Amino acid sequence: MSRSAHPAGPRHADVLPEGHYAAPPVDLNALDPKVWAQTVDRDADGVVTVGGVDVNALAAQVGTPAYVLDEEDFRARARAWRTAFGHDADVFYAGKAFLSRAVVRWLDEEGLNLDVCSGGELATALSAGLAADRIAFHGNNKTPAEIRRAVEAGVGRIVLDSFQEIVRVAHLARELGRRQRVQIRVTVGVEAHTHEFIATAHEDQKFGIPLADGQAAEAVRRALQLDSLELIGIHSHIGSQIFDMSGFEVAAHRVVGLLKDVRDEHGVELPEIDLGGGLGIAYTSGDDPREPHEIAKALTEIVTRECESAKLRTPRISVEPGRAIVGPTTFTLYEVGTVKALEGLRTYVSVDGGMSDNIRTALYDAEYSVALASRTSDAEPMLVRVVGKHCESGDIVVKDAFLPADLAPGDLIAVPATGAYCRSMASNYNHALRPPVVAVRDGEARVIVRRESEEDLLRLDVG
Ligand code: LLP
Repeated sequence: MSRSAHPAGPRHADVLPEGHYAAPPVDLNALDPKVWAQTVDRDADGVVTVGGVDVNALAAQVGTPAYVLDEEDFRARARAWRTAFGHDADVFYAGKAFLSRAVVRWLDEEGLNLDVCSGGELATALSAGLAADRIAFHGNNKTPAEIRRAVEAGVGRIVLDSFQEIVRVAHLARELGRRQRVQIRVTVGVEAHTHEFIATAHEDQKFGIPLADGQAAEAVRRALQLDSLELIGIHSHIGSQIFDMSGFEVAAHRVVGLLKDVRDEHGVELPEIDLGGGLGIAYTSGDDPREPHEIAKALTEIVTRECESAKLRTPRISVEPGRAIVGPTTFTLYEVGTVKALEGLRTYVSVDGGMSDNIRTALYDAEYSVALASRTSDAEPMLVRVVGKHCESGDIVVKDAFLPADLAPGDLIAVPATGAYCRSMASNYNHALRPPVVAVRDGEARVIVRRESEEDLLRLDVG
């Protein structure tokens, strides 16, 4: 197809339709280090490279779409969290963001623990050889089979989420002749400034036991009475993709308040406090996330100050970052299939993936960036909507962005910051085959999760 067969559509800020884009970037070929993994660059020919491998070679090796993960970047971020919190705290990587056996091994090597929230995640961690006492098991409705497996394996902690679960875990632990270390997850009543679906500390929702009206204190009372449970602390997770630390401040204040009440009522000082995950990352150049050392300093100061004023020993702190570690490490590489200019509106760029590999745009109205990856271009910016190949008009990957006006079928484009909650929330909608995850490091690309095949799909179809 000739370039002129798909005219560029609207190009200038004064004729742009409504949307939430900023003005076109000055240099469309530039890769803002805020949103791209550490080793991402362009080579002398203008091709995007990561870990020393260029995307044209990657596409030839593993096909598209593909999640391309910068292993060095993952390790560096994991290490930065570990170092920032030091030896008096624990960092549990939240596996729900993205989990595979390779990831478990990297975490192990970098000294992090792991938070799992399902039997499947637990099985992945155990099969990669992670010591069970470094695993925390979460979830608002763990099945008896999952609880049994976790207790039998000897997980380091189970985070109790309801009154029924206190009894359920105690019962299974007793049956297995174990004393299980547990935390109680409380909802502290904070309205985190994030999307409604990923805010978790206001009271009207399914997670945790409310601090308000004494329910959490009652949960502590019950847990302390059960011999097969060892209550080691209180857990709070206020939500996800949060930039503002004030929510954590309120949460820490209220959790320490509960620790104080527990001390006053039972004479017990619970030794741990878990403040969950939720720290935001940059999806676009407009986002300004905090560095792990700033977060560690802020959280440690808040807890220490609150404990001093409550005359409590400062408990051991743990945190559970998921997105902040894996999110920025990965970009999704797509091949452009069609380019459709709608006069006076925008240009629709269809890629070979979509909502099956990134549901976040449709589900949370998430914003992403995008760049032409297989080459550079000096063409003018054109306003695009990057869409997938699914039978649904909400199948949007990047809602509003600018790409060069000479974009053509066969070009590779890359969407950065897709490491968290994209592969882990991927689906087979329209019988799409879920893309592989390719880890790149020191000039080598290694598939750590392979692409699904039609055989994989048909294997489940036993009718
Ligand atoms: N700890 C607990 C108890 C959690 O529920 C979560 C996330 C985390 C830690 C990790 O949060 P992170 O640091 O990754 O923000 N699917 C949504 C996010 C759901 C988060 C669920 N819980 C998304 O794509 O934005």
